Amino acid sequence: MALVTTKEMFAKAYDGGYAIGAFNVNNMEIIQGICEAAGELRSPVILQVSKGARSYANHTYLVKLVEAAVAENPDIPIALHLDHGDTFELCKSCIDGGFTSVMIDASSKPFEENIALTRQVVEYAHAHGAVVEAELGTLAGIEDEVVVEAGQESYTKPEEVEEFVERTGCDSLAIAIGTSHGAYKFTPEQCTVNENGILVPPPLRFDVLEECTKRLPGFPIVLHGSSSVPQEFVKMVNAYGGNMPGAIGVPEEELRHAAELSVCKINIDSDIRLAMTGNIRKYLAEHPDHFDPRQYLKPARQAVKDMVAHKIEYVLGSANKI
Ligand code: G3H
Ligand code: 13P
Ligand code: ZN
Repeated sequence: MALVTTKEMFAKAYDGGYAIGAFNVNNMEIIQGICEAAGELRSPVILQVSKGARSYANHTYLVKLVEAAVAENPDIPIALHLDHGDTFELCKSCIDGGFTSVMIDASSKPFEENIALTRQVVEYAHAHGAVVEAELGTLAGIEDEVVVEAGQESYTKPEEVEEFVERTGCDSLAIAIGTSHGAYKFTPEQCTVNENGILVPPPLRFDVLEECTKRLPGFPIVLHGSSSVPQEFVKMVNAYGGNMPGAIGVPEEELRHAAELSVCKINIDSDIRLAMTGNIRKYLAEHPDHFDPRQYLKPARQAVKDMVAHKIEYVLGSANKI
């Protein structure tokens, strides 16, 4: 199967009460790990490229690696998506260069400017067979060059979503309900301790999600900043020379619940970074005389595969949905 847009994936996910995983890709090992897991579990998948990934790895290298993944996994639908596009020119360049989906993230701009820029991207994308994700509301953390300090984020206003979707014609909408980018989503002080001694962050704003869903029936909602920051990998990083105190993510049960509702796309990047980095640190600490990148990237690639398989089975619910 050639690269696909997210249109059919989202329609099936919405009706089926599951979500598609959107995983950020920066190199061959990450693409291989994600696609091997999705291929074995017969799950649709979205490979997404940020502006930073594109300048790190080069557009052509990433597209060719993704084309290789499509050739190796002919049975599963794979979409290639621009994550957090910030200009019309960047979105156009990705569409012209083979992406099937782009995000225009004008969420930090005033409402009317967000609408105007999103509309411009939608017109170009639809004329060229691509689809568009837009965003309303801002997440804390770093989205490429836009840094939103904790406390300055704003939840999506449900009363704005219908007008926004109608006037822009976007195909999916990212909303802000309390998730944020990176490995430090909540401080330990914000959390409560449950009966097993586990830190539990404040819950996501499901009321905002439900209100958006009521106003946009059948329309695919996207969640960014949805890594769960598994403590086993934080511990692994810290045990082998790292220093990531107090890294806390979104509990997986909350994401599973969101996937059963109108959330059709869940973005996960930090968990992959953590799994890779933990394993590379461990491997090098245990084999101080090794210096062949294939040796330490092999367990890192396996860790990406295991992480993605876990998300597909236990968080997204997208196994066997091709
Ligand atoms: O939301 C952003 C993604 O995690 C990509 O991060 O801009 O460091 O590539 P990046
Ligand atoms: P995380 O940092 O939670 O993995 O979020 C990734 C993301 O939203 C990419 O757009
Ligand atoms: Zn994001």
